Amino acid sequence: MSKFIIEESPCLKGKTRVSGSKNAALPILAASLMARKKCVIRDVPALTDIFVMQNIIESLGGKTEWDKKTETMSVIAPDAGRLDADYELISKIRASFLILGPLLARFKKVRTVLPGGCAIGSRPVDLHLKGLAALGAEIELEHGYVTATAKRLSGVEIYLDFPSVGATENILMAAALADGQSVIRNCALEPEITDLANFLVSIGADISGAGTDTITVNGVESLRGGEYTIIPDRIEAGTFMAAACARPGGDIVLENAVTEHLRPVIAKLREMGAEISDNNGMMRVQSPDAGLRSTDIKTLPYPGFPTDMQAQLLALLSMARGRGTVVETVFENRFMHAAEMKRMGADIKVESRTAAVNGVDRLTGCHLKATDLRAGAALIVAALGASGQTEISDIYHMERGYDRIDEKLRQLGARIIRVE
Ligand code: EPU
Repeated sequence: MSKFIIEESPCLKGKTRVSGSKNAALPILAASLMARKKCVIRDVPALTDIFVMQNIIESLGGKTEWDKKTETMSVIAPDAGRLDADYELISKIRASFLILGPLLARFKKVRTVLPGGCAIGSRPVDLHLKGLAALGAEIELEHGYVTATAKRLSGVEIYLDFPSVGATENILMAAALADGQSVIRNCALEPEITDLANFLVSIGADISGAGTDTITVNGVESLRGGEYTIIPDRIEAGTFMAAACARPGGDIVLENAVTEHLRPVIAKLREMGAEISDNNGMMRVQSPDAGLRSTDIKTLPYPGFPTDMQAQLLALLSMARGRGTVVETVFENRFMHAAEMKRMGADIKVESRTAAVNGVDRLTGCHLKATDLRAGAALIVAALGASGQTEISDIYHMERGYDRIDEKLRQLGARIIRVE
């Protein structure tokens, strides 16, 4: 098993480039299954989740090519062929559920694995299924599989009980090839939704309103291929911003970070004393010489504070002056990292969905375990601010979502190595 060893590190300084967004690339790769011609997707981050999605597409009869140097993935969707992907592959990533909408829309029948719970909560898919059923799909749940079939999909008005990112994506993709107009209300507003809609429009879909709470889709007959560049990963950017603030005096520049997508993270880091400026797509983050002060954080769907940055900010609060609270409203069980941070000396009390944090002068390095992707990233942030050496095991979680995180951190002066 690989692990990261992080020696006591100086504050981060220098420049690094943010990779393309994992959570935009995954639905866009799934959506390319709907295209009749080749799709060439640029700035696809080199992550295990992405390669699993690539293998799923191949297992469905699609053809893919990966150019490591330019981080470009080409996809030629199958004309027909197998409509149920390999069980082992599909059950590796929850995002595989995003093939449901595209395959249903294109081939009118699809069978895939019903995802179970995961480390951050039960994560049901009822909203995905309700939306697809409203478009005319018949849904059968049996033996842990979901089968969706439809003679035709017809445009409809759908109101989501919660602005779920994945449900919005699945419904949006299916509606793109349905007959007539669909209106999706109370949908997710995340930048990854807008990116998916922009990709679909670039290959011939008729979609308006993405990025607002109402998306209108006029179904089209078919989608062609095309070239598309994925947006930068706002959570990777936010994680580096947090890492820069792990010690006083940090001063980094992030190339390819989109300020607009990072407003809630910028606001919280500024409240804590960081200085953040944007100069033509170059974001500079300076950590206060006097150290961070605490604040209160509540996660919410976009444009609220992202749940995917909660753990990294909890790491900073545990080293900041004063008392703060973190309320997690999106997932019901996303504080596993708090227990690991407590082993470093953090003073955190978790009760239900709230963590109360009293900042301590210094965390101390120890042996830690990454429990999920963002929890792992948060432990790196904590380790960069801690005294002594930290070892983090189960780093395969981080490789699901961070493109060469150790290499990028070393560029910024962190003393981190990966050992097998
Ligand atoms: N939910 C339902 N029913 C549904 C769908 C969702 O109750 O049918 C609930 C979930 O259980 C959860 C909440 O709604 O409590 C939010 O879930 P959502 O569907 O919005 O999230 P997701 O699509 O499963 C994506 C990201 C997550 C990110 C969330 C929230 C991808 C591949 N994943 O998940 O990313 O945390 O949106 O922003 O896009 C990560 O990258 O580490 C990660 C977990």
